[in-house]
Amino acid sequence: MQAKAKSDRPLHVAIIMDGNGRWAAARGLPRTMGHKAGIDALRRTLEAAQGMAISHLTLYSFSAENWQRPAGEVHELMGLLRFYLKTELKSLCENNVRLRVIGDRGYLADDIATMIVQAENKTANNTGITLVLALSYGGRQEIAAAVRALARKVEAGMLTAEAVDEKQIAAQLYTHGMPDPDVVIRTSGEKRTSNFLLWQSAYAEYVFQDVLWPDYGQAHLAAALEDFTKRERRFGK
Ligand code: IPE
Ligand code: IPE
Ligand code: MG
Repeated sequence: MQAKAKSDRPLHVAIIMDGNGRWAAARGLPRTMGHKAGIDALRRTLEAAQGMAISHLTLYSFSAENWQRPAGEVHELMGLLRFYLKTELKSLCENNVRLRVIGDRGYLADDIATMIVQAENKTANNTGITLVLALSYGGRQEIAAAVRALARKVEAGMLTAEAVDEKQIAAQLYTHGMPDPDVVIRTSGEKRTSNFLLWQSAYAEYVFQDVLWPDYGQAHLAAALEDFTKRERRFGK
């Protein structure tokens, strides 16, 4: 399979799903329609990923900074998230998909937070691909929270300052227990990380694709992985 690159293990692919608003604007539609079409692209991409050598698919769905968008758009996005969690759980189970959510859940509405816990529990024993949704996620906020947690441990005398190493920090991140991303894809032509997986992407390969997220699908994902297989990963060695 082309997705395996020069590694024997399946890949962790992370995607910054960008360009919903521009997709809608190009059609004279409200931004919400772009987000709606973005959910269809998410479904297509998840299905495509299941046919490739991908163990984890992490999707940047709502950033910590996205709370600063106009209240109406935030409201619509949360409505779509509610709808996705409600309608998709059955299909995730049928397809043996494990769901994990990373981000600061404290900002999410109570009913959404509850649905997330239920979906995670219900899919916890599934053995297929792991779908990781980054919701209310920010890389800097994640690292700050990890530092706070470690500082509390030091205060409580459970840890010495000298014992704080990369492993200790990684264990406090939302992604604890997950492999680092091998590939980070960003759609829409923008070339920035926008606070996504800052710690975890230290040695990820970045692929920037000139396609708006609602148009994304199997062929784009395959092309991104094809690009990845041509990269020589050196890890500084
Ligand atoms: C990505 O599309 C979806 C979210 C960030 C929630 P955008 O809404 O950022 O669309 P553009 O970048 O304005 O086109
Ligand atoms: C990043 O896209 C966040 C998500 C895709 C969820 P944004 O559109 O919010 O990022 P900027 O504003 O272009 O950096
Ligand atoms: Mg954007």
